[in-house]
Amino acid sequence: MVEIHKIVYNIAMKYKCPICSEELVIKDKTMVCANNHSFDRAKSGYFNLFITNSTNHGDNDLMARARRDFLNKGYYQPLKQAIINTISDHNPQNLVDLACGEGYYTKDFPINDKCGIDLSKKAITIAAKQDKATQYIIASIFKAPLYDHTIDCITTIFAPVAIDEINRLLRPGGIFILINPGIDHLYELKQAVYEDPYKNEETTFNFEHLNLLEIKKVQGKINLETNEDIKNLFTMTPYYLKTSRHDAAKLDNISQMIVTYDFNIHIFKKDL
Ligand SMILES: C[S@@+](CC[C@H](N)C(=O)[O-])C[C@H]1O[C@@H](n2cnc3c(N)ncnc32)[C@H](O)[C@@H]1O
Repeated sequence: MVEIHKIVYNIAMKYKCPICSEELVIKDKTMVCANNHSFDRAKSGYFNLFITNSTNHGDNDLMARARRDFLNKGYYQPLKQAIINTISDHNPQNLVDLACGEGYYTKDFPINDKCGIDLSKKAITIAAKQDKATQYIIASIFKAPLYDHTIDCITTIFAPVAIDEINRLLRPGGIFILINPGIDHLYELKQAVYEDPYKNEETTFNFEHLNLLEIKKVQGKINLETNEDIKNLFTMTPYYLKTSRHDAAKLDNISQMIVTYDFNIHIFKKDL
């Protein structure tokens, strides 16, 4: 039985041509399919497989840089370690990080065959420059250029949940790890900006074909020691896009802040 499992599932991740769905093969600095559709590798190492005219290009350059600078300070290291432990528990052969951003988490996932997908060119460029062990791809997570039922583990961290794609990509028994903010996440930051700050709603996820195994909580306080760190944290969140300049300017003169982090790690297993 063990041997059959290996034969069926222990195969390298295959990329699908976004034009004709034939398999893409990497030749020198190009991904090319049997119909000669080809995609050049960017200097930093990613491939751009996003070919639609969508106006959604993911997070902008400012948000991507803010997130890189904030995360590189290690404030969210406890979350990263908890995700790494969760992945190790399930020992997947391959992994896709959907909406991987700048690859802060992806780059340390203990998997040889892994891919990070995001729409933001800036985020993917940052990720690909820092991490040569992961294949980074510009594409929509709602149309991932990968084949059905070929993925052992999918992560989605603070990003839209492309549940139909997740079900399409995961092999039977595959693992989906979803991280979202808990009710107290960043409450002090919201208090500093909004007249009537609100706590996050506790979200319950019910997905067809995915069985919830466990929810792990990662909670604590971080001491933001500079105004730059405070502003980077604000800029990397969706609050940045929703807040008036007047309210955002309230952060200008704050030089230190203790903030609560509150994360939920949901672990699902796909039906066999
Ligand atoms: C809040 S960030 C999280 C990034 C990363 N997971 C992290 O936690 O560091 C959300 C990410 O989702 C990406 N994104 C949003 N919509 C997307 C889509 N339809 N396809 C691919 N990426 C998308 C954005 O570009 C951004 O990088």
